[in-house]
Formats: sequence, C-alpha cells, structure tokens
Amino acid sequence: MLEIKNLSKTYEQKKFLKTTRLKVLTNINLYIKQGEIWGLVGESGSGKSTLARIIAGLEAPDTGSIVLENKTISFPRKSMPHIIQMVFQDPLSSLNPKQKIKNILDEPLKLNTNYPHKKRLQIIKSWLKNVNLLEESLEKYPHQFSGGQRQRIALARAFILQPKLIILDEPVSALDVSVQAQILLLLKQLQKQYKTTYLFISHDLAVIRYLATKVAVIYKGHILEQGLANEIFSSPAHPYTKLLLSCAPKLKGKISRILFKKHTKISSHQNICPFVDKCPVKKEQCLQNIPKSIQLSSTHSYVCLYK
Ligand SMILES: Nc1ncnc2c1ncn2[C@@H]1O[C@H](COP(=O)(O)OP(=O)(O)OP(=O)(O)O)[C@@H](O)[C@H]1O
Ligand SMILES: [Mg+2]
Repeated sequence: MLEIKNLSKTYEQKKFLKTTRLKVLTNINLYIKQGEIWGLVGESGSGKSTLARIIAGLEAPDTGSIVLENKTISFPRKSMPHIIQMVFQDPLSSLNPKQKIKNILDEPLKLNTNYPHKKRLQIIKSWLKNVNLLEESLEKYPHQFSGGQRQRIALARAFILQPKLIILDEPVSALDVSVQAQILLLLKQLQKQYKTTYLFISHDLAVIRYLATKVAVIYKGHILEQGLANEIFSSPAHPYTKLLLSCAPKLKGKISRILFKKHTKISSHQNICPFVDKCPVKKEQCLQNIPKSIQLSSTHSYVCLYK
C-alpha cells in the first residue's frame, strides 16, 4: 500500500552567520503492505519523525518518491484523512484544549463526510466505547483526562475515518509503564479488528517487539536493517542492531539512553557506512568502501560490507 523509494531529506541549519546542510534521511526504501505493523526503531535524532512527517504529507522530501495506493504522491500535498492519520507522543499538545471531546472527534467527520449530525454522534459514541472511554467524556475538555485517557481520545480521532494507515510517533513514550501496556493492548486489538496498517515509531525495543510484525532499524537517517520482527530479534545481522539488542537486556532498555563506544573518527568520505565510527567490528575497508545491501531472505536485509 505504501512504497518509499530512495527518499532523502536535508535541513538547513543556521549557526551564527553560517548555514550548513544537515542530511537527515538518506536513500530510504521501505515497502509497506496493507495490514502490516511496521516498527521503526532508532535513537533520538535518527530521523524517525522526519520520515513520519514526510509520509503524512506534512513535509516534502528533497528527492525520492512515495507511492501510496498505487499513486505517486506529489509534494506539497493536501492531507488524505481517509488514508493516513497520525498519532503523536503528547496528546495534550495534539488535542485542542479549547474544544470538548465531542467536537474534537466530530471535526474529522464534519470536514470529510456528508453524514448528518445524528449519524456523526453515533459514530463518535461508538469510538469512545472502542477506546474504553465513558460517554460522559463527550462534554469534557482534554485537560480533564489522564495522559493515557488523552491518548485514547487521540486514537479514537485517528481511527474515526477508518484510515488505511496510521503513523504512530512514540505514542506511549510519555506514559507510565502500566498505562503504556494498556494502550499497546488497545492498539493491538484495534489493528486486529480494522486491519489498519501501522507505522509505529519508537526508541523502545520492548514496545516494538510487542507490537510489530516487521521492523526497520534507522541510524543517522539510514535504514541499516529491515525484516520480519522475528528475524530481527532472533537473528540480527547488522552490528548496530546486534548492539541495540545486546544493550537491551530483556528488552527493557531505552536505546536513546545507551552510550555506545566513544566516537573515534569521522570520515570525510560521504558514502561509507554511517555507523563506521562507532562500529565494534569495523575493518579498514569500511573507511574506504560503500557498504552493500545484503539480502538474507525475501524479507530480511541489511547494509554492511560484511556477511
Ligand atoms: N525543521 C527542522 N529544521 C532543522 N533541523 C531539523 C528539523 N526537524 C528535525 N531536524 C533535525 O533532524 C534530525 C532528525 O530529527 P527527527 O525529529 O526526525 O529525529 P527523531 O528520530 O524523531 O528523534 P527523537 O527520537 O528525539 O524524536 C535531528 O538532528 C533534528 O535536529
Ligand atoms: Mg521523533
């Protein structure tokens, strides 16, 4: 349903009087089929949210293309609420504080359907039920709910038009662990029921392992490895993925907090492996040569010079 081909993105960064270009995404390729749950895992600053925003149409890539439902998307483009919805980390800032829940949930229906008020209200009530909130929530404002409840509201809003794809950008990272588990369970149940495709972004491997059927590992804007979740977790191939898994005993660790081997060398060669300066198994050739994509199965591949 979604094909991302050779997508790259740079940002201009201004420091004092100097403007530099920061390459945030490099040659991203992903093929997401209807009904799959993709986990995109990577540390802070690796480009996860940038990729999410580009897919959602909130930003344009520099190069590359996105084919959605067999149509190539042009940029800038209007949102496609029936096809893609997004859920963010912090529901308090993504829900309008001045609107009652009934209006927050009514907005997508009002803007994108011709349903009369009665039918819209019926749908809103059924979605409140689907996310386990009481009907009395309708007359309340976002600040009157807990973080977990607010994320349930954000989920109801994302699901209400029954989109094909929902991009979830760290949707449980701001919640307590027990609340995280409830929201993850709800996400799993809703996906099973509506067969929605998910692109689930997280820096938490435990969360990815619980939910995802496919995994892409991103590092400094490069996808270093991708495959079925069980391939990635049972036989990781890229040194970075191996390190991530070994640094997350019992998969409870948060990779953004993990400190790798100290930065040793930055190479001026642009196309060499982005992980070379921190790779525990790097060889001399890694500083000279462009890594290759190695296909381990029809679903599992990684980018490295070595098998
Ligand atoms: N609008 C922008 N202008 C300039 N630089 C940006 C902009 N948005 C993001 N960046 C930079 O791009 C890089 C990738 O950012 P991004 O938000 O995509 O990372 P992320 O993987 O989502 O990180 P996190 O886990 O912290 O959310 C970072 O270095 C960030 O500072
Ligand atoms: Mg982010």
